[in-house]
Amino acid sequence: MKKILIICICFAAFGVVTLAAVYDESNFSALGRLFEPPPEGYIIGKDNAPGRGTHHPSENCGWCHGVGGRAEHYLFTMAGTLYSDRAGRAAVKGGEIIMEDREGNIISMTTNESGNFWTYAPVASDPYTVSTYHGHEPFVPLYVLDADGNLVQPAEPDDPRTLKYKTWTRKGNSARHMVSIAGVGGGTATTTRMSCNMHHGGISAARGALWVGNGPTLDAYPYSNLSYRKHIYPILRSNCAPCHIPGSTITSMNTKTDHDILSTAVDYSNGLDLMTYEGSAVVVPIYDAVIPNRVIGSKTVSKVGVESVVDTVSPGQSLLLQKVVPGALHGGGAFWEESSLDYRAIRKWIAEGALKN
Ligand code: HEC
Ligand code: HEC
Repeated sequence: MKKILIICICFAAFGVVTLAAVYDESNFSALGRLFEPPPEGYIIGKDNAPGRGTHHPSENCGWCHGVGGRAEHYLFTMAGTLYSDRAGRAAVKGGEIIMEDREGNIISMTTNESGNFWTYAPVASDPYTVSTYHGHEPFVPLYVLDADGNLVQPAEPDDPRTLKYKTWTRKGNSARHMVSIAGVGGGTATTTRMSCNMHHGGISAARGALWVGNGPTLDAYPYSNLSYRKHIYPILRSNCAPCHIPGSTITSMNTKTDHDILSTAVDYSNGLDLMTYEGSAVVVPIYDAVIPNRVIGSKTVSKVGVESVVDTVSPGQSLLLQKVVPGALHGGGAFWEESSLDYRAIRKWIAEGALKN
């Protein structure tokens, strides 16, 4: 059932060309517009703010650029650093960060030579914001409803926790979709400013970073005898992990819409787990339909693995490769050109028999 639902959402997403999207509550639920391609038709970098801003790349800008911080004169609505890979090895210069708020306003920033970006552009407030501690209880509505469920008092628009957006990162043909929505102010404090670097950590957790994935995962690959463990797994791990993992993911609950649906357990993978060769079967919790985060049982989620999307007879025809080149219809977006090192490494490994070596 869930699988069918996700497929339908993707078809709907690709069929619609949105310029200035009209707000629809379902857009800002855990599943809403999850895999929508990045918006088009605006000026790239239009929301870049002045300054050099080359310092502290990968750190949480909100530490100092927050109320009471050392740099509180510069109170950004959003800031962060963009890297070319998830491990945060190389900063991306001239990459784009796109945000779309709940009123359909597009905010576009480009990165400087340290990969940093920042903006003061306003982000629309969600009158139905629920305050949570990192998506968990206690759930405190910041709005007031009357007995009939009508909105009597919206959440305070100046409270940064109510500023809601979705985001994408893009460089050339490479675009990343964000997998859930977020508020600008994290935590429980009304003054907190978080930066993207706070939540989008590199693999080692030593750095925080958003990543756009236009660079190769490894610096070099051998001409032959490619190894699944040494070469192929790291590519899939650093690019496909946000979605093609075993089991399902729980997203934060931060608007009323999230509380109206049965569960925020989302499976982004379409039944494909690229973190394992044979596939996986993991036991995941089933959540109560009314009480958020109350576990009432468990079930097994089974997925196919890497071996089921390779074609050793015609390597280039492998779904693993065809799905993720520019122009292909893929919920996760485009990852590499046929000339890219990672693409060529995977293709070679498939041609050599796609062994679990
Ligand atoms: C450890 C503290 C700290 C962190 C972390 C920090 N900054 Fe700053 N930033 C400062 C201070 C201090 C100033 C100068 C404030 C003043 O003049 O009042 C400043 C000023 C700035 C300015 C304006 C001056 C200029 O350089 O053009 C920008 C832009 C800026 N920071 C961007 C960022 C970004 C983007 C991040 C996150 C990647 C970040 N900062 C992280 C402390 C910090
Ligand atoms: C942001 C989430 C996301 C990321 C990241 C992502 N994908 Fe996907 N992928 C999806 C979704 C959603 C589908 C199902 C819809 C579709 O076919 O486009 C899918 C489907 C696929 C399929 C087809 C599965 C089938 O049985 O039809 C393949 C193959 C695939 N992805 C490969 C990859 C590879 C390789 C990567 C990393 C380089 C990757 N994906 C990264 C979301 C993602």
